[in-house]
Amino acid sequence: MSTAEFVVVANRLPVDRGADGEFKHSPGGLVAALEPVMKRTDGAWVGWAGQPDLTLDPFEFDGMLLVPVALSADDVELYYEGMSNDTFWPLYHDVISPPRYRRLWWETYVEVNRRFAEAAASVVSEGGTVWVQDYQLQLVPKMLRELRPDLTIGYFHHIPFPAYGLYSQLPWRKQVLEGLMGADVIGFQRVADAGNFTRSIRRLFHYETRASGIRIPQEDGSTRVALAKAFPISIDVDAYVELARRPEVQARAAEIRESLGNPKRILLGVDRLDYTKGIRHRLKAFGELLHDERVNVEDVTLVQVASPSRERVEAYMQLRDEIELTVGRINGDFDTMGHTAIRYLHQGYPREEMVALYLAADVMLVTALRDGMNLVAKEYVASRIDNRGVLVLSEFAGAADELGMALRVNPHDIGSLKDTIERAITMPGAEQGRRMRSLRRRVIENDVDAWSRSFLDALARVRADSRAQGTR
Ligand code: F6P
Repeated sequence: MSTAEFVVVANRLPVDRGADGEFKHSPGGLVAALEPVMKRTDGAWVGWAGQPDLTLDPFEFDGMLLVPVALSADDVELYYEGMSNDTFWPLYHDVISPPRYRRLWWETYVEVNRRFAEAAASVVSEGGTVWVQDYQLQLVPKMLRELRPDLTIGYFHHIPFPAYGLYSQLPWRKQVLEGLMGADVIGFQRVADAGNFTRSIRRLFHYETRASGIRIPQEDGSTRVALAKAFPISIDVDAYVELARRPEVQARAAEIRESLGNPKRILLGVDRLDYTKGIRHRLKAFGELLHDERVNVEDVTLVQVASPSRERVEAYMQLRDEIELTVGRINGDFDTMGHTAIRYLHQGYPREEMVALYLAADVMLVTALRDGMNLVAKEYVASRIDNRGVLVLSEFAGAADELGMALRVNPHDIGSLKDTIERAITMPGAEQGRRMRSLRRRVIENDVDAWSRSFLDALARVRADSRAQGTR
């Protein structure tokens, strides 16, 4: 197998395999974020092809070498659905849903992480760089360093890192931190996430941390410094702007408004169907606004796209039932023959359709209870080339650190969420313009290219330092 100087390791490959066995680009946020970097560097990508029991040889796809890691049906259940999405996911999102701690899940997680580490070690060239992605693979940095001490290793954590009081629940809390400390640079979305991580290191290992550096004692008596720092992720802004400018996308936006009966205002929510996203809080606030007659179904429609996600995990099944019950009730109470209160879509859509929806929406509702970043907020802003539209943004989403001109909201405070939605619906055009221009400046300056460059620059500096010191 050919080798690559730069290798990304992520739970998923950036492709989906259709029923015909053909691969096509998959639409996920992580994929969109990393693909430009991969193309620039001629790299390799190690990941799972998304189907159980599928063993595939490495193959070329759109200028990248893709290296599939096979997962059995048991691996999917125990490592992906169990440990990743029923333990780490709820624990790292402030236990919104109770995390479950199962020893068999953990054992499989260790085993599968080793498989990813071995696959990466086999494809990366001597002295190369590996960039490991996200909470499914937290043990890979250490495993990889043991297999290949010549490498420079980065890790980016796409989801929140919780406060020590919560993190300390994890029965394997020391092993996970050790796994992460195998990286030279450990990136987080928010300054607060990096702070929570370094505090956990101090509490559990008593290592010295100064500025962003963690001083890790080595067996030979020397010290290795790993960097733990915030690198807020972003989107491919140009791609969204280009789509928003297309006449056919704008025509589709008009068609969407028309098909909803041309309401005066369209509110939009776009989420994976996940309990972290605050969809129930959003529906409650909107339902109460209708009930209080502060908004009228003839004038205002909420479009809620809830794309199917992790459908075999119990908490997600329950959430779907609750949301669909609530939507049915609100629509039953308030719909008229010509207008619906909530147009609920349990489907995923291609990017063109999403941009048309963003253009059609007067108000974007991001009410996450906890979210690493929330790229939807940035996609909406990037798409609003007319400098109109209002972003309502939860302070618990990472994007709130950068997007100060959004209408910030605490989604747990239903009263103030209602007031904020009403304010967004009635915001004068001039204020919309002032806010949206400022939001757009932020998003355009810090696009996904800037994100990956700043992370990879930090990694390159570590590599240069260790080469200068002769440690690598
Ligand atoms: O950012 C969190 C994350 O788990 C990503 O790793 C992933 O691309 C996305 O959410 C979708 O999740 P899943 O891969 O479980 O469908």
